[in-house]
Amino acid sequence: MNTWKPSLARSWFVVARSSQIGRKPHAVTLLDRPIVIARASSGELFALDDCCPHRHIPLSAGRMTEHGLQCAYHGWTFAADGRCVAIPGLPSGACQPLVRVGAASVAEYDGLVWVRLDGEAGTGAIASALPAFVRRPPAQAQRFVWHARWNARAIDALENFLDAQHTHFVHAGIVRSVRRRAAVDVTVARTGSALHVDYEGQQDQSGWLYRLFESRRELERAHFDASAAGTAQLEYRYRNGSALYFTLHFSPVSDAVTQVHGTLHIENRWAPRWAVRFLVWPLLRRVLQQDRALVEAQALNRQRCRRGEGISTELDLVRPALDAAWLSSGEAWTDSVRKVRVLL
Ligand code: FES
Ligand SMILES: [Fe+2]
Repeated sequence: MNTWKPSLARSWFVVARSSQIGRKPHAVTLLDRPIVIARASSGELFALDDCCPHRHIPLSAGRMTEHGLQCAYHGWTFAADGRCVAIPGLPSGACQPLVRVGAASVAEYDGLVWVRLDGEAGTGAIASALPAFVRRPPAQAQRFVWHARWNARAIDALENFLDAQHTHFVHAGIVRSVRRRAAVDVTVARTGSALHVDYEGQQDQSGWLYRLFESRRELERAHFDASAAGTAQLEYRYRNGSALYFTLHFSPVSDAVTQVHGTLHIENRWAPRWAVRFLVWPLLRRVLQQDRALVEAQALNRQRCRRGEGISTELDLVRPALDAAWLSSGEAWTDSVRKVRVLL
């Protein structure tokens, strides 16, 4: 069991795809806390502690009834807010008012189920609670979804996704090449819980992904927001009016295991599904496999060598923001704009 930074309980995390949640309760673990997600016939989502307060049977072994989520052992039944609403066999049928199970907030957006562990946003929470960049890809954009489980820390996986400096080495040829570095102006802007990083000076790129699928860029921006601390996005806008949004959601099961959900949204461009699936997707998957191997090796070796956090330089652009969101030792950030010139 780990000690998670308390503010992470106020943060939204993706725990499942909407399509995984039917009438059968679905068990997940987020930040070491077992949660059951279930859907009522009305469509309402439940997110409750996966442990019946009577004899601690997993509620995910139960079933949904018209009254709520019913435990498989003696049938105690719980509403979406965690209240016990039925104890079968009691003559009155009434529950003791104090019997309840912990309830998390749950929201559904873009085919994904989001959970906030403190429950403070209520049930059926609205998507406007999610960071603006998550809601930016338009509904008519083409969308691809991907899921995996990595044996790595979420903070390291997030840093890997947002870090451009490893791409020359780990994804040589696919994303960038070591021999073709160019000076790039980077702006790191922090406002409230949100951070974005803009790159100027690499409108064209040398890698295969760019050559196959992209055109001259107008904007290249990386997004992070502590209110959904596991989620980050790379946004690319092109001169021809099209845009790509590549979003990864890292949700810690524990300090050692992270669930990863990814979406790719393609806006305003002719990109038949088969072309993306056969040309672009294999390259993206290759990139993700390379990243996964790296952060899994990093996790193993950190343990093997008994190391804490590493040494950073100003090239580790997003690390201070990630530390602030994830680590108790992280320094709180104030609103700021920082400009750096780097060779990418
Ligand atoms: S263990 Fe759940 S009702 Fe008894
Ligand atoms: Fe990478």
